[in-house]
Amino acid sequence: MDKMVELFGGGMMSPVPDPYPVYRKLRAEEPVFTFDGPLGPCSMVTRYDDVLAALKDAETFSSKGNARGIGLVMGRTILEMDGKEHLRQRRIVTPAFSPRALRAGLDEVVVRVVNQLIDEFSRDGRAELVQQFTFTFPLRVIAHVLGVPISDFHQFHHLALDLLAIAEDPVRGLDAAQKLVGYLQPILDERRRDPRDDLVSTLLHAEVEGERLTDEEVLGFLRLLLPAGAETTYRLTGSLIFALLSHPKVLEEATADRTVLPLAIEETLRWESAVQYVSRETTVDTEISGVAVPAGALLMLGIGSANRDESRFVDPDLFDPRRGDVSAHLAFGFGEHFCLGSNLARLEATTALMALLDRLPNLRFEPGAESTMVGMAFRSPDRLPVLFDPER
Ligand code: HEM
Repeated sequence: MDKMVELFGGGMMSPVPDPYPVYRKLRAEEPVFTFDGPLGPCSMVTRYDDVLAALKDAETFSSKGNARGIGLVMGRTILEMDGKEHLRQRRIVTPAFSPRALRAGLDEVVVRVVNQLIDEFSRDGRAELVQQFTFTFPLRVIAHVLGVPISDFHQFHHLALDLLAIAEDPVRGLDAAQKLVGYLQPILDERRRDPRDDLVSTLLHAEVEGERLTDEEVLGFLRLLLPAGAETTYRLTGSLIFALLSHPKVLEEATADRTVLPLAIEETLRWESAVQYVSRETTVDTEISGVAVPAGALLMLGIGSANRDESRFVDPDLFDPRRGDVSAHLAFGFGEHFCLGSNLARLEATTALMALLDRLPNLRFEPGAESTMVGMAFRSPDRLPVLFDPER
C-alpha cells in the first residue's frame, strides 16, 4: 500500500486531486504496477488496450476477484459471478433497468425527484449543488425502483456509502453491511407476505431453474444495487456540472442546443470516470503488455487511466464533447458485466442537467469558492458552490 500512497499521495478512498500524471507515467514505464494492497498483493493495469482486452476475456480474467473485496460486504452477487451463473442471475434484474422500463414511468419518477430537490433552493440564487442536489437524487430514484421507503433516507444513504469503504476500512464496511441487512430484512419479510410492484417483490418471487432466490441472494442484490445507484450517478452528475461550469463555451452551447448534452455526458464519463477501477482475478498464467502475470493474481483494471490513454484518445486531458470518438470510453465497463444501470445513469444525468439549465439561468461557479475534482477509486467534485438568477 505504501508504494501506492507514495505514488498517488493517498489510498483508494483518499481525496486524491489529480491521479492522471501518475497514470500517464505508469502507462509509459510500468503498465502493470504491483503493490501491497489491504487485501494482499494487487496489480494495477493502466493501458486502454490491456484494460479492454481483459474485460473482453472473462475466462482468463475472472470476476471472482470481487469476492476478495466488495463481495465481503455485498455477499455473493452478480459482480463476482462468471459464465452461466452470472447470466442466469443477471437476467432477473435486467428488465427493471431496460430502456422499456425507463420509458414506462421511471423517466417521470426521475423528473419528479430532480424537480422536488431544485424547488428547495431555486429561489435562493445560490446553492451548493453536491449537498443540495447531486448527492441525494440518484439514491432516491433507486430506492423507488427497489421499493425501499425513503423516509429513513439519511440512515440508509450513509450505510450504502460506508459499504464501499471496505477496501480501506474493512471494519466500517462490514459494520455497514450488517446494519443494512438489519434495515432491509423487515422489508423483505413484508414483501414476501404482501408483494407489490417493485424490484424487492420481483426478486423475492423470481425463480432460477425452478428455485426461488434465498433471502441471502436477495439481500446481495440489494446491497449491490443501493450503492451502485447511490455512489456512481451522483458522481457523474457532479462531474458533468463541474465540466460545464469550467468550460463556459460548452455550457453556452448546451444551454442553447440540448442535443449537445448527451455528448457532454459521454465526454464526462471518459474525462472523469466516476468508477476508476474494476477488479479481476487471473485464472491461468498470462501476460499483459509483455509482463508475466501468474494465475490467481488480483488485478485492478484502471478504467480511469484507460480513458485518458494518449494512444487511444487525441489530447486525452482535454474535455471536448465534439471529439469524434466520444463513446469509445470504458466508463461502464465492457462485455458480460457491462453496467446494468447505464441507461438509468444517462437518463438521470440528462434529466438533472435539463432541469438545472431550464430553471437556474445564468448558472455559474460562485466567484472565489473552491471546487476540486477528487478521488482514487471513485471521482467527482468535492463541492459545487454556484450562483444563478433566482426563480420567481
Ligand atoms: C455513472 C454511473 C455509473 C457508472 C460509471 C457505473 C459503472 C459500472 C462499471 C464500470 C461496471 C462494471 C463492473 C465490472 O466489470 O466488474 C458496472 C456494473 C454494474 N452496475 Fe454500474 N455504473 C453506474 C451506474 C449504475 C446504476 C445507476 C446502477 C443501478 C442499477 C448500476 C448497477 C450496476 C450493476 C448491478 C453492475 C453489475 C453488472 C454485472 O456484474 O453484470 N450502475 N457499473
